[in-house]
Amino acid sequence: MTRRTVRIAMNGMTGRMGYRQHLVRSVLALREQGGLDLGDGTVLWPEPVLVGRREDALREIAGRHGLAHVSTDLDAVLADPAVDVYFDSQVTSAREASIRKAITAGKHVYTEKPTATGLDGALELARLARRKGIRHGVVQDKIFLPGLRKLKRLVDGGFFGRVLSVRGEFGYWVFEGDRQPAQRPSWNYRAEDGGGIVVDMFPHWEYVLHELFGRVVSVQALATTHIPRRWDEHGRPYGATADDAAYGIFELDGGAVAQINSSWAVRVHRDELVEFQVDGTEGSAVAGLRHCRAQHLSATPRPVWDPDVPATEVFRDQWREVPDDTESGNGFKAQWELFLRHVHAGTPYRWDLLAGARGVQLAELGLRSSAEGRRVDVPEIVL
Ligand SMILES: NC(=O)c1ccc[n+]([C@@H]2O[C@H](COP(=O)([O-])OP(=O)(O)OC[C@H]3O[C@@H](n4cnc5c(N)ncnc54)[C@H](O)[C@@H]3O)[C@@H](O)[C@H]2O)c1
Repeated sequence: MTRRTVRIAMNGMTGRMGYRQHLVRSVLALREQGGLDLGDGTVLWPEPVLVGRREDALREIAGRHGLAHVSTDLDAVLADPAVDVYFDSQVTSAREASIRKAITAGKHVYTEKPTATGLDGALELARLARRKGIRHGVVQDKIFLPGLRKLKRLVDGGFFGRVLSVRGEFGYWVFEGDRQPAQRPSWNYRAEDGGGIVVDMFPHWEYVLHELFGRVVSVQALATTHIPRRWDEHGRPYGATADDAAYGIFELDGGAVAQINSSWAVRVHRDELVEFQVDGTEGSAVAGLRHCRAQHLSATPRPVWDPDVPATEVFRDQWREVPDDTESGNGFKAQWELFLRHVHAGTPYRWDLLAGARGVQLAELGLRSSAEGRRVDVPEIVL
């Protein structure tokens, strides 16, 4: 076995997603399993270079995990020919400029979503990447989760017949920050800092719908700010300028209609923090992050509407759990593995900066739909 080091500049590792999902649960988890076996006698050994603004915080993380490289100088890291890949998990507003630098320096790029704060910027990154011939990928973790993988298996196997509709429910209560600390960083609630649930979640809905059911061809959304005042990490009150809930209807190529509620101001009465119900002519399914339950037409009950009679059936018990097909690992790690294979073995990879731009486009048009109070077409983007 030949061990080949892949040096990855990782920016934003002091953050929630960067540290837990990307560094610990993905890249360090790959090291714990002995590296990534490419299947051709080569094992890739990821070597992170932690990049950020606060050296002490980076050194503390590096020390905790036995890592050797930290830097507060992104330009110097990108000028280092030993660095192969740039990964970005910074706050959204800082992303575009850093990715542009990385592509210009000829690094392969992997990044959190959204790739930019507007479609023009997102497209520009995709075009620049193509011109430079680098390999690029955008985090689309939800489709790598066991629940949605099982749902995809049902779609691919023709279980649903003709898919009629998709109803998604995402959200949970994010504390305002006064009586209990908020579970999300305060920038998420300030539009001027790149916050807002549409910008955050519509990119996810774009690839989930696209991968499973068809491209989104129109959007009608109502975005709102239910909680106008919150308290930040220092206990200071601030005005929430970004939307914290969005109620969206998406028409899909092929005719199905998706309706997804996204909210940080809702209490959970569901089995998982996100759930999608798919109804088709031959069957239905409800999928979350981990579970997927299905009901075939042949096993569909025959309720009769009569408000005078108490319900005699336990409808939830009439669904069958869809079994796991493979070992279900962390979705972020699964996508990292595919990206690193793409970079080093040239395997196909479609979740790239163009795919990322589609997510940014849907967020942008969703906000426009809400502001203008009308349904907006979503044109197919080409580079
Ligand atoms: N894929 C997913 O499911 C998912 C979930 C949540 C967030 N995200 C995305 O991940 C990114 C990070 O989100 P998070 O929740 O980890 O945020 P966070 O605030 O916890 O972390 C942000 C990181 O960026 C750094 N940072 C903060 N301000 C900066 C600035 N002005 N310039 C440069 N760096 C700065 C911070 O030091 C930190 O390392 C966001 O773009 C968000 O959209 C993705």
